[in-house]
Amino acid sequence: MQARGLLMIEHGLIERMLTIIRGALAPLEEPHKIDPLFVDKAVDFIQTYADRTHHGKEEDILFRDLNNKRLSEADRRVMNELIEEHAFGRSMTKALVEANTRYRNGDSSALGDVARCLRTLVDFYPRHIEKEDKTFFPAARAYFSEAEDQAMLAEFREFDRKMIHDKYMSIVDELEK
Ligand SMILES: [Fe+2]
Ligand SMILES: [Fe+2]
Repeated sequence: MQARGLLMIEHGLIERMLTIIRGALAPLEEPHKIDPLFVDKAVDFIQTYADRTHHGKEEDILFRDLNNKRLSEADRRVMNELIEEHAFGRSMTKALVEANTRYRNGDSSALGDVARCLRTLVDFYPRHIEKEDKTFFPAARAYFSEAEDQAMLAEFREFDRKMIHDKYMSIVDELEK
């Protein structure tokens, strides 16, 4: 498998989660209620899987290695857009967490904010995935030899291996405070 294959498989799971969130939003055109525990699950998926695990590999490994290459102006522009989109997703998720906290604490006006944040995320993210799958990943692959690509895949796997331990260590650290 090529390194980007792993990232594209992860895109598949992210797409499935987006479909579930879209389903939860469908009856919310005129929002009446949403389960805050469902939002917690969506947030955990987005923060731990989509952001730390998936964007982590893109930014800390793929983009880092691309930074050592002579990228064309167009490819560098797209890479910068992707980084900005990751940051946008992070700030939208932060707003979602805040709105969900207000909603859980009985502020019914927060429901509209929860729905808007979720809607924004499910609308924007598929375009981000498509840009990577169809445009950026194929362009990026051309900068690497087969050996470099396989080394990147091995580093992706090592990154994943550590992730579950980091996640639960941080939970214990937090609870010990
Ligand atoms: Fe990305
Ligand atoms: Fe991605």
